[in-house]
Amino acid sequence: MKKIEVGIKGNHYQVIVGSNLVNQENLQILKDREVLLVVDQNIPSEFKDRITKDLADLSSKFHTIEILPSEENKNGVTLDKMHSKLITKRYSRECCLVGLGGGITCDITGFAAATYQRGVNFILFPSTLLSQVDASVGGKTAINHPQGKNMIGAFHQPVQVFADVSLLSFLPDMEISNGLSEVIKHALISDKEYFEWLETNMEDIISLEPKALETAITTSIEIKAEIVAKDEKEKGIRKYLNFGHTFGHAIELYGGFKEFSHGQSVAIGMLMAMKLSYIYEGFSEDDLIRSRDLINKANPNLNFNINFEEKKLIKNMSVDKKRVGNNLTFILLKEIGQAKINTDIKEEDIAKAIHSLV
Ligand SMILES: NC(=O)c1ccc[n+]([C@@H]2O[C@H](COP(=O)([O-])OP(=O)(O)OC[C@H]3O[C@@H](n4cnc5c(N)ncnc54)[C@H](O)[C@@H]3O)[C@@H](O)[C@H]2O)c1
Repeated sequence: MKKIEVGIKGNHYQVIVGSNLVNQENLQILKDREVLLVVDQNIPSEFKDRITKDLADLSSKFHTIEILPSEENKNGVTLDKMHSKLITKRYSRECCLVGLGGGITCDITGFAAATYQRGVNFILFPSTLLSQVDASVGGKTAINHPQGKNMIGAFHQPVQVFADVSLLSFLPDMEISNGLSEVIKHALISDKEYFEWLETNMEDIISLEPKALETAITTSIEIKAEIVAKDEKEKGIRKYLNFGHTFGHAIELYGGFKEFSHGQSVAIGMLMAMKLSYIYEGFSEDDLIRSRDLINKANPNLNFNINFEEKKLIKNMSVDKKRVGNNLTFILLKEIGQAKINTDIKEEDIAKAIHSLV
């Protein structure tokens, strides 16, 4: 078991990484508290039943709400159902929300907690690789709007996160690939040694070899924790974590939030951002090939040969939250492990990047 400190000023908390973390001992912080469990519908029943029983025994008030996890449902209607439950069941400001699920459940649980009675506590049990290495850490909480991803949200930190690796053995292969997009992103923006370790260990991670998987999860969380502790509200270096996401969010919208998952969109978005890095930042051909190979290896079932309609994708980017005035903000790479912000990219080069996949 590993404990990673997220040292955000005034909001310090720990992320615990290990196996079989859904247990009475870890839930003791909820003893005699009012608890609302927000649980992803697809959590294997043995975990769902265990946490339900433990929380019902421990808490002073306990109810559950199930989330059907889709980007479509990460919306105001689902949020309203959660708030209605809290209000109808008379939850006070001292209550705590517990989110057990993937990134969608983590994001919406956090946002419900951020907005109920101007902010209550929440704890997360992220259950996908993506949510363990990324969505559960750093306090970005949000819901979608039909015109854009995560457009309505707040920064609100959890009080504790439990990344239980045992939950991952039930995940479909594609969800492991999705999480690996963010894992590779962490290496690309900040740690060449980690990138090289991933090149050597990717097969073991994909086959869920426990030691390799835990090392990847821990290293990625450490990278994210260090960045968000320095820049909680994304005024500077936290922007690096958006590498691949300016294209990625536009791709999700392009596919109506159905055709491409978040992880796949980020994988494709990183490839496009690397093309811009090559044009603008001197990112070498060798680094380009190595990064492309690693992304391909992590996504054996994704066909990257996609001919996007460039105008539609560029229009989708115009709603991006990272825009400054009329200029889009791109996170680019100077080399593997070194990121840079660039807000001065010509549209013709964005088009080149979009078409660089075919
Ligand atoms: N807040 C942040 O900093 C941040 C960072 C990255 C991504 N995100 C958000 O995270 C979301 C994507 O998260 P995701 O990829 O986890 O998607 P997700 O929440 O949709 O989960 C993926 C699928 O796995 C299923 N699932 C979850 N846990 C399971 C388990 N243990 N066993 C079997 N099936 C399981 C879910 O039901 C779902 O079908 C996006 O909405 C994205 O915007 C947020």
